[in-house]
Formats: sequence, C-alpha cells, structure tokens
Amino acid sequence: MNDFPTDLAPLIGTWRGQGHGDYPTIEAFDYFEEVTFSTIPGKPFLVYIQKTKHAETGAPLHAEAGYVRSAGPGRIEMTIAQPTGIVEIHTGTVADGVYSFASETVATTPTAVDVTACIRTLTVAGNELSYVFSMEAVGEPMTKHLVATLTRV
Ligand code: HEM
Repeated sequence: MNDFPTDLAPLIGTWRGQGHGDYPTIEAFDYFEEVTFSTIPGKPFLVYIQKTKHAETGAPLHAEAGYVRSAGPGRIEMTIAQPTGIVEIHTGTVADGVYSFASETVATTPTAVDVTACIRTLTVAGNELSYVFSMEAVGEPMTKHLVATLTRV
C-alpha cells in the first residue's frame, strides 16, 4: 500500500446517513444511504459501492458501484455503473477534502432514462462526508437531484 494515492485516503471507510432528492420532474423524497470506499491490497484505486433505501417505506431505491483513481496530484477520475442502464465517466480535482467530479461521458443503454451530464461534489471533513449530485436529464438543464450527509461508521 506504499504507493496508495494520498488524495484518496480520506474517502476510505463505510459511511451511513440520510439524503434528500428532488428534480423538476419528480416528487421530492428522503432516503437512507450506505457507501463503502475500500482498497484492494497493492492497487492504487478505491472500490466504490453504494445502496439506498426510501426513508419512509424502507424500500430499496437507487444503487451504484464503481472505482475512484488518482490521475496525479490533485487530479482524480471515477467510473460508476448503475443498474438502471447508466454509466458515468468522471474527471475531477481534489483539494482540502473537496472532490469535484464532472462527467466526461454519460452513456445509457437503449431503454435507460435520458441523462446527458452529471456533476458530483463530495466533501470529506473528518468523519463526515457530504455530497451534492446534479444532472442534465430528461430535457432539464444541469439541476440538483441529491444532497446527503453521511458519517463514517
Ligand atoms: C442516492 C442516489 C439516488 C436516489 C436515491 C434516487 C432516487 C430517485 C427517485 C426516487 C426518483 C423518482 C422516481 C423514479 O423515477 O424512480 C428518481 C428519478 C430520477 N433519477 Fe434518481 N436517484 C439517485 C441517483 C440518481 C443518479 C446517479 C442519476 C443519474 C445518473 C439519477 C437519475 C434520475 C433520473 C433521470 C430520474 C427521473 C426523472 C424523470 O423521469 O423525470 N438518479 N431518482
């Protein structure tokens, strides 16, 4: 693990918390979330696993998985796949615990909902991880879909 990128280290762990979702085309909702960023011995990247459930009904909601890698000091990349037929390819920067990702590509399967661009901003402050997720989708301009705050468990 000697070569593990120091930029990625603050993300390592399992995080749990609550989020709020909204978009101009849908009803607002609240959700519970669990995120894990884990290492593989000797590899310079993080494995990312996320799952959510509805805050009122407990029903499973969105889930996704992917990888985060360093692209040199202060520069980061992320790939994310979703069971809804959406794949995000991100590049970004990290400074002072703020990980700012913007999609290079969002690819969708033929039957997936139309998403053309995403922005993800994660902020790590000690044992708290908060994020904002915005997307350009279903004909809407870049608009916030999710905000959440998680705690390292
Ligand atoms: C914490 C993660 C997420 C949760 C809990 C979540 C939840 C939801 C819910 C409950 C809806 C409304 C009902 C529905 O259409 O299923 C919705 C709509 C939607 N979500 Fe998410 N979502 C998440 C992440 C994402 C991500 C990462 C994307 C895109 C990359 C995305 C794209 C959309 C789109 C495009 C809609 C539909 C808008 C429409 O049809 O008008 N969501 N989401």
